[in-house]
Amino acid sequence: MASSGGGQGGGSTTTSAAAKAVPGSYGLPLVGAVRDRLDFYYFQGQDKYFESRIQRYGSTVVRINVPPGPFMARDPRVVAVLDAKSFPVLFDMDKVEKKDLFTGTYMPSTALTGGYRVCSYLDPSEPTHAKVKQMLLSLLLSRKDHVVPAFRSNFGALLDAVDADVAKTGKADFNTLNDATAFDFVGEAYFGVRPSATDLGTGGPNKAAKWLLWQLHPLVTLGLTPFIEEPLLHTFHLPPFLVKGDYKSLFAYFSAAAKQAIDIGEGLGLSRDEACHNLLFASTFNSYGGLKVFFPSLLGSVGGAGQKLHERLAAEIRGAVAEAGGEVTLAALEKMELAKSVVWEALRLDPPVKFQYGHAKKDLEIASHDAVFQVRKGEMLFGYQPCATKDARVFGATAGDFVPDRFLGNEGSKLLQYVYWSNGRETDSPSVHNKQCPGKNFVVLVGRLLLVELFLRYDTFTTEVGTELLGTSVNFTSVTKATSGPGS
Ligand code: HEM
Repeated sequence: MASSGGGQGGGSTTTSAAAKAVPGSYGLPLVGAVRDRLDFYYFQGQDKYFESRIQRYGSTVVRINVPPGPFMARDPRVVAVLDAKSFPVLFDMDKVEKKDLFTGTYMPSTALTGGYRVCSYLDPSEPTHAKVKQMLLSLLLSRKDHVVPAFRSNFGALLDAVDADVAKTGKADFNTLNDATAFDFVGEAYFGVRPSATDLGTGGPNKAAKWLLWQLHPLVTLGLTPFIEEPLLHTFHLPPFLVKGDYKSLFAYFSAAAKQAIDIGEGLGLSRDEACHNLLFASTFNSYGGLKVFFPSLLGSVGGAGQKLHERLAAEIRGAVAEAGGEVTLAALEKMELAKSVVWEALRLDPPVKFQYGHAKKDLEIASHDAVFQVRKGEMLFGYQPCATKDARVFGATAGDFVPDRFLGNEGSKLLQYVYWSNGRETDSPSVHNKQCPGKNFVVLVGRLLLVELFLRYDTFTTEVGTELLGTSVNFTSVTKATSGPGS
């Protein structure tokens, strides 16, 4: 079933004489792919890599190679969809198959996931997909009342640490604090048990980060010279046995803490073992990995927007909390329109998961703003999300800027259909029939909760922003404590 896209661009299957061949080039076998990989990591960087090819071929639908290429991926050749109109073809389950391509043209060994192909690698046509996805949707629903208190206690403690670090050294490293806190928060919100309070201790986030690196190393650069990184990260898979012990410790936490969630999975027809490996993956890769990237990006954008925005957010948040009798309730959060717009804008401007893939299920026609292109059955389609969600034909001259008010009001809400961070339109819903992120509402909720925690405590703050392995790095450089509380 299509999640979206068919009606508003993204391709059709009726053949038309006007349909063109997709422009672009893969270069010479092997050499072309290696050359492009060097462009992608070292000579141009991600954004330039795609933008320069749009310019070169005068089209937002182009044939290109994507990393990692040889010898990690059998075939690096893709048809890239790089604007807001063509991108949604990737959401349409009638048109694309999403089997084994969560990480792209290569797939990490299933030895890293207990021998199972976990949900993110399953196509909705595979019966296990519906069972696992339903387990996750049911889990999130059943824990909905636990999210706010778990968030407030964990991230309240994080901001206590920020206050202390800023007072002592004039700086607080948000990423390091966020890594430890987000891991505990996810465990407490989903299963009622903080990982750091179990035998896993405080080592969980490092074990998780190492396990993530074993899956994502083909796609990252550590900023070292290509002579070291190419053979080490981009040519061969790191051997799974080197991370086996870390995974075993993580699994022990999940099998003990997640008993009720595993019961849900068993009730849906999964074995307890497969349910637990899936819960580990969804909590650690999808949820923890997602927040590890998203929260620094959100904080960096809001920090950089300055005091005027901070005053407006503080007024809105404190007003809604006061109206709810001083409590942070789900109803109060719904009234925070500016906070919601800010979270969507951060997800639009810097989508935490930037690459999406799908194999054409049949011969297709894909429409960009300017032309219609033919694609053959079996070809790999690829989307680089920032090109689609910063499309100036949709978002205008400010497409590349952080505009906090962008989604406010009637006109603003019409733009939500072009926010794609969850692998679907923001106006659509995840289901067992599509591949849209089941954490969609949870992510927008916790983004708002981060703003609430910040602006109940501070009138304003300043940050400095850089880059790190998976995205943004951000330090607090000053904080100004709130001079008024909710309602005052
Ligand atoms: C799928 C993004 C948080 C669970 C996806 C996909 C994206 C995404 C882009 C589609 C990948 C693809 O098929 O190409 C994000 C981001 C997050 C986040 C940016 C946080 C900032 C979460 C959370 C959960 C979750 C909190 C918790 C349940 C999943 C699962 C899938 C998925 C299980 C596979 C869905 C399916 O097979 O139908 N996510 N996600 N994600 N996400 Fe998330």
